[in-house]
Amino acid sequence: MPNNSYSQMQCSLCRKVVNTHSRYDFPVYDPRTGFGLCKQCIKDLNNAISAHEDTEAKDHAIEAAEEITSEISRIRPHIIKDYLDQYIVNQDRAKKVLAVAVYNHYKRMKYGLDNKDGDDIEKSNVIMLGPSGCGKTALLMHLAKLLNIPFAVTDASSLTEAGFVGSDVEVAVRNLYYAADKDISRTEHGIIYLDEFDKLARKSGENNSITADPGHEGVQQALLKMIEGGVVEFTAQGQRKHPEAPTIKINTTNILFIVGGAFVGIDKIIAKRIKKQDTAIGFGAEVIGKDNKPKFNELIHKVRPEDLMKFGIIPEIIGRLPVICTLETLDEDALLRILTEPKNAPVRQYEKLLKMDNVELEFEETALKAVAQKAIKRKTGARSLKGIIEDVMLDIMFDIPKSDTPRKVIITAECINDGAEPIIKEL
Ligand SMILES: Nc1ncnc2c1ncn2[C@@H]1O[C@H](COP(=O)(O)OP(=O)(O)OP(=O)(O)O)[C@@H](O)[C@H]1O
Ligand SMILES: [Mg+2]
Repeated sequence: MPNNSYSQMQCSLCRKVVNTHSRYDFPVYDPRTGFGLCKQCIKDLNNAISAHEDTEAKDHAIEAAEEITSEISRIRPHIIKDYLDQYIVNQDRAKKVLAVAVYNHYKRMKYGLDNKDGDDIEKSNVIMLGPSGCGKTALLMHLAKLLNIPFAVTDASSLTEAGFVGSDVEVAVRNLYYAADKDISRTEHGIIYLDEFDKLARKSGENNSITADPGHEGVQQALLKMIEGGVVEFTAQGQRKHPEAPTIKINTTNILFIVGGAFVGIDKIIAKRIKKQDTAIGFGAEVIGKDNKPKFNELIHKVRPEDLMKFGIIPEIIGRLPVICTLETLDEDALLRILTEPKNAPVRQYEKLLKMDNVELEFEETALKAVAQKAIKRKTGARSLKGIIEDVMLDIMFDIPKSDTPRKVIITAECINDGAEPIIKEL
């Protein structure tokens, strides 16, 4: 009997001839080619695939465990700090806090793999507070590079509750998934940085006017489960969410969440609390400067969960961000160092570029000072340093390659302040 009959068919795989009463006995069959597979073969194939997937998953777990063990011996907190010191000026306390948080994060992962009894070590998610341009994002980027794990920054202020116009909170995990080149197991061990987190503060927090703000509080609520650790499901990039759309599932249990922001005004909240306590026990108000303004750099390290609550962060979120990492405002001295000391310092980068044209670059001490002072006026921390230098360097970078003569370019304070020409000497 030819195998295109529904009463007797031959399986193209096992070659067995099967007597069938209906086409449902022969789930795979193409009448055009005569290709068919019997139920038993399909069952066998399915079993083979799931057995294969099980081994694959086990192998992945073993690999992950081995990787974590080797990382733990490599990334001791002091090693992390030494590495960060090469790129980031000051912020010693933040570096230490982050180094310990990351180290504990790895230990927690290892503990979870070794002890399946469920008594987990608490997650060391971090909340970072510090003024704009003081190095929050830069610190984390270097940290992720050292750890060789995926890292994604998501702007928290762009997130909305499900059902509202905007991005759902899952976007943060989706960004990490793409940063990890769509590798699920790498995604599940990455770092998610939620920038501008302070913008999610409940408007009725002390720092704001008393208007109802269900939207922002809703986003904080929506973030809870994700930060604590759970399975997050999202559709691939660009795909609309509908019930049949294929989804990607990521378990966030081992993802380190770091939220950060400038938290403008938090220093006043801290000062107010301390003042209240201090007058009770008789201390002077040493946290208030001569100009009657709170001393930011001293106050910020004294922040407590209750201050964050006053700011408008809901207590449930604060409870899930046990590590508080504070950064200071950068003063003129720090900005001067940022210009020249870090491995990727802007001045060093221009020196290297010009050296390739046989040109020596020198910034006079007064010129560097002028750059730092200009940056301080702009109130964006170290962020504007690069721009100020780029402005003066543009013409030089354009003109220098016109000739091959070895030269020396000297940038003076006048170049920075009044747009004067730099001094160029032939060598
Ligand atoms: N302490 C620092 N040491 C070295 N470079 C720094 C430091 N702080 C900032 N920078 C440099 O300044 C630029 C801006 O810093 P960064 O993006 O980290 O600021 P931020 O704290 O995240 O600010 P924002 O709150 O506005 O996001 C980066 O190019 C970074 O390299
Ligand atoms: Mg930033």
